[in-house]
Amino acid sequence: MPHSYRRRLLTAAVVAIAFGVGVDSFARTIDFNLGWRFKRGDHPEAKQLAFDDYSWEEVNTPHDWAIAGPFDANEKSGYAGKLPWRGVAWYRKWIAVDRREEGSQVYLDFDGVMASPKVYVNGQLAGEWDYGYTPFRIDITPYVKFGRANVVAVRVDTTGHGTRWYPGAGIYRKAFLTVSPPVHLVKNGTAIVTSDVSAEKATVTIDNEIENHLESDEPIDLEVTIYAPDWQEVAKRRLSEVAKAGATIEVSTTLELPQPQLWDLDSPTLYQAKTSLLVAGKEVERRDVRFGVRTIELTPNDGLLLNGQRVALKGVNLHHDLGPLGGAFNRRAAERQLEFMQEMGANAIRTAHNPPAAELLDLCDERGVLVWDELFDKWNETADKRPDEPFEPYYARHAAALVRRDRNHPSVFVWSIGNEIVEAPHDPHGLTKERVAFAREAIRAHDATRPVGLGCHIPHSTETGVLDALDFTGWNYQARYERARNRYPDKPIIYSETASALSTRGAYRLPIAGAKCDFPDAPVVNAYEFSSAAWADIPEVEFERLRRDDYLLGEFIWTGFDYLGEPTPFEHDARSSYFGVVDLVGLPKDRYYLYRSLWRPHTPTVHIAPHWNWNGHEGQNVPVIVYTNGDSAELFLNGKSLGVRRKGERPSTPKDLAAGATLEVGGAKLTEAATSSSTSLVSASASESSTWSMVQIGAASHVRSIALDFPRESKLYGYRIEAANDDGDWREVASHVATHEPAWGGVNEAIHHVDVQASKLRVVFGACLDNVEPKVSSIRVYADKYESPYYLPTYDYRLRWNEVAYEPGELRAVAYQEGEPIGEAVVRTAGAPAKLVLTADRSTLTADGQDLAFVTLEAVDERGTPCPLADALVEVEVTGVGKLAAAAGGDPTSMRSFQDSKVALFNGKAVAIIRADQGLGGEVTVEATAAGLPSQSITLQTRRQSP
Ligand code: GAL
Repeated sequence: MPHSYRRRLLTAAVVAIAFGVGVDSFARTIDFNLGWRFKRGDHPEAKQLAFDDYSWEEVNTPHDWAIAGPFDANEKSGYAGKLPWRGVAWYRKWIAVDRREEGSQVYLDFDGVMASPKVYVNGQLAGEWDYGYTPFRIDITPYVKFGRANVVAVRVDTTGHGTRWYPGAGIYRKAFLTVSPPVHLVKNGTAIVTSDVSAEKATVTIDNEIENHLESDEPIDLEVTIYAPDWQEVAKRRLSEVAKAGATIEVSTTLELPQPQLWDLDSPTLYQAKTSLLVAGKEVERRDVRFGVRTIELTPNDGLLLNGQRVALKGVNLHHDLGPLGGAFNRRAAERQLEFMQEMGANAIRTAHNPPAAELLDLCDERGVLVWDELFDKWNETADKRPDEPFEPYYARHAAALVRRDRNHPSVFVWSIGNEIVEAPHDPHGLTKERVAFAREAIRAHDATRPVGLGCHIPHSTETGVLDALDFTGWNYQARYERARNRYPDKPIIYSETASALSTRGAYRLPIAGAKCDFPDAPVVNAYEFSSAAWADIPEVEFERLRRDDYLLGEFIWTGFDYLGEPTPFEHDARSSYFGVVDLVGLPKDRYYLYRSLWRPHTPTVHIAPHWNWNGHEGQNVPVIVYTNGDSAELFLNGKSLGVRRKGERPSTPKDLAAGATLEVGGAKLTEAATSSSTSLVSASASESSTWSMVQIGAASHVRSIALDFPRESKLYGYRIEAANDDGDWREVASHVATHEPAWGGVNEAIHHVDVQASKLRVVFGACLDNVEPKVSSIRVYADKYESPYYLPTYDYRLRWNEVAYEPGELRAVAYQEGEPIGEAVVRTAGAPAKLVLTADRSTLTADGQDLAFVTLEAVDERGTPCPLADALVEVEVTGVGKLAAAAGGDPTSMRSFQDSKVALFNGKAVAIIRADQGLGGEVTVEATAAGLPSQSITLQTRRQSP
């Protein structure tokens, strides 16, 4: 017997004793997350009891094997984070079940395994599961040897998993071991429904499922007690039943709750329902389930009514990964995300596009956050569905898993059957009328109290009737909901994805973008917040729609946080998204202040962008934006007023000097004919161009902007713009190289800012793509700087000083509401970095092996002014009773492992995540060192977990 095998048996025996003390068939659940052995690759022999896993890595779950990297910079696309998540791996763990528990049922519960887990016990396949995001239970009773050591081996295989983002890999959510007496409460078999809610009372119906594994009928008693938040008993009832042999029965208990305190966003009151199961008069199991008393109604015209009051959904989409921590769920990291979102004013999340970890819903219940709980992204391989599998049993299985786990959470207000599912037969696994009806019923079989909907993206789906069965519809982007409004005037509509705006935190570039998908600064998206995906819009365009179409229940922005994968618009160069209002490590972008100023109208927000370090730009124009909930602000540069701006003051569009002018076109064939109006065009190099479009604007004028409108997306056209005076030569003033970036869509307008005297302008075409005809629809010419009218709504929500001549020093904004100052903000030009500053989000942690501190690392100059461009490489050393869990700067293109002890400041900042060791507590010191800067440290305390 190998040494390690003996050691394992010994450990198992110890666990068996601990587990067995006082055992007398009372149901128990223990945490099953510490001390797994793990190895990548396929190791079928590892399922055997006698296998020696001594050399395997010891890990705790939740665990994500891929997050440590390395990133594969050469992977063609960053859609799944460029991390090594694809593959097979094995986990092993020993368990012992006391001899005296023989006759009990033994279960393993997994809240999520990515993906396709097969669970073996003592060499035999005990069960498997076929979707990475839903919880599952494996009955391991037939395989367990009571009173002996047993080995659980889990084979995980992500090779068949389809995804559009980073999925993580492994046992990435919590696992539990439950030993139940043969007659016991069914896992997730408790359903609590409140009805007839008034100030005086609420009716609470508690249904419990009980399964009997014996061959005899058993008389049982169920005692249900409701406790108020202060643990006062408020209602109690006892019922007697007979649990039928080998069957599951359902027992329904109805209680009356006097003067219920409602679950609301500001006061998320939670009650506790305790169910005691007694068999032959003896208590064998006790279960506590939290619930809330609230009414929710989705209306087609009057919005969402929570406890009778209209609540506008200020929602965020969140993917399941936790940035540098990857897919491995961590309660504190999720809580921190919610803290940021609520601080911004969000009141809802959409779990895009899959069921979340169970604890996320606990947090939302406690914090008063509404949840759109979603089952799938598409219904094909991103749902882990194999092509040969029939839809119905697959769907029903996972709908049950989702709804039975989540139905008692007051935060969950709707179920979504999926996201962006294309209709069959375009997608053979896609929407049909029958499938949608089936999907709704599969959910309602377990919860008939919440509406069932879908996140849609193809307006045509409203014409075919496939959405008929749904209680509400959700729509992603560009007011696509309009057709649903016409077709289904009685169905409530949620704007399930808005914005898809893009930016890189702190990366301001000049000039600012002329169009929402101009991305000239690859791989950076300008932090000035004027960019979005081609199929989407900047936030203010969505605000306008929400204001206009006030039947909408509200919005869910894409996304609250940056996430791993889907790095639009730089699919090839980056590994994480640009969509978040907060970056991957939890540092807010400027958009955060835009939403905060709108979503929290009564809490002062005053925030200035950009930073004020523009060395080399002295005297040049640097636009300044103030984000505030005030109605106006005054901006000062080095004490000198740059004037007051008021929300809603939209600038007028300058006059088009070419308005009414004929657009002349010519090409190789037309050269002869064209000579009279554009003599020198003939002399233009024929090899470079043969086709052109031209306008004459009369007398020579000063031209600041030229706007071109193309029949197709402007990105596809290669051209140069030339200007000439009446008798002058043609001079190139701007150019564009045809590109397929961004990959999807684009705008047809192109704007070029120039500084030239001209009486005529022409566009000379070069190489174009996708066989577009080389021509413009119009050329517009402006004496003043022209901004696309697309951006006019920004003047209603931000305050903009478009022309500020840069001089170093201090920029100060004072914001006002109805003439009263509400606050101010200051940015200063920083000198060279002189030291690092470390700021922890919390100074005391729980010593439970899970709790985290997020330590922001920042470079400041000798006066303490933050250095917004600092990019120092910082070495982070953690000593004492904690470890460095991850560190990152939020740069979507960084390929440095999150688990490297070195992290580069990104635009002045980075975050180190410290995990408290499990134990008795003590001190953790975090020390940061960077070349040329004195090292700095902070000390955190960890405290033993209260029993
Ligand atoms: C949506 C989709 C999301 C995400 C987003 C990016 O269409 O539902 O999952 O891909 O686009 O803009």
